[in-house]
Amino acid sequence: MSSITLSDKSVLITGGLGAIAEFMLKALSAAGATVTVTDRQPESEARPILESWGLGHLDYIGMDVTDPDAVRSGVEKAFSLRPEINIALGHAGGTGIFPFETCDRGRFDQLVTFNFLGQTWFAREVLGHWRGSGTEGHLIFTSSYVSRIPMSGISAYTASKAALEMFAKNLALEYAPHGIRVNCVSPGNVAAGSSLAVYDSDPVYRAWVDRVSPLGTRNSPQAIANAFLYLCSHLADEIDGHVLQVDAGVGLPKLG
Ligand SMILES: NC(=O)c1ccc[n+]([C@@H]2O[C@H](COP(=O)([O-])OP(=O)(O)OC[C@H]3O[C@@H](n4cnc5c(N)ncnc54)[C@H](O)[C@@H]3O)[C@@H](O)[C@H]2O)c1
Repeated sequence: MSSITLSDKSVLITGGLGAIAEFMLKALSAAGATVTVTDRQPESEARPILESWGLGHLDYIGMDVTDPDAVRSGVEKAFSLRPEINIALGHAGGTGIFPFETCDRGRFDQLVTFNFLGQTWFAREVLGHWRGSGTEGHLIFTSSYVSRIPMSGISAYTASKAALEMFAKNLALEYAPHGIRVNCVSPGNVAAGSSLAVYDSDPVYRAWVDRVSPLGTRNSPQAIANAFLYLCSHLADEIDGHVLQVDAGVGLPKLG
């Protein structure tokens, strides 16, 4: 039972059908928030997934964050369904392993679009709505600890997440006079989603993940959801331009 109440919060999320998002949606809904879910899947494919999570009816909009027109019309639809949306989670993102030397330009640009440019398009549309209505909203991006630590094979991802964190801080500064806040949550290696699949199937990756975690553990997806629960609540009302690292210490600089 959550002691945090989000009954005055209406949340819009991108990438809302993902592995970590499942735990976020459950936590936010349990705390009383209304949630509008977007993801790239059409509604016919999304509905069975959402129903399997047992959250009752949630509004769903198919929205590909790598298509600026889809982002514009998707956010427009979300605000027409729920003009009271006051929290926006730019959560969609991810990567595979693509060493720069063998990653062609199209693939590289697609990863940067997915992990960074799409977030700027989402922010532009959401902030436009909030400025139009005078809503003192809260925009939160999902980053990663690799925004601060280079890692071979994922330069498009690390650079995009680094850019995302600075973009968030810049927006925080620009929109603070309007009462709009912008923050990031920065997870470590999470036991969910694509990284869980690699962890389960690749012993080399598994040994590395276990070795680099100072606490000797990966993040649970629930720990990431808890961070969103807190940041979305009034407990965090004075937090702005912050990157909340929820990474079990894996983002700490260390020698050896
Ligand atoms: N899993 C981890 O270990 C980890 C660690 C650090 C940060 N993160 C970040 O957390 C977020 C979620 O990660 P996850 O592991 O739950 O990922 P996931 O792959 O389980 O979920 C990503 C979601 O994004 C959606 N998506 C893919 N392409 C899209 C597009 N073009 N438009 C809209 N949606 C699209 C997918 O359908 C999926 O539902 C990402 O931003 C990721 O970078 C994850």
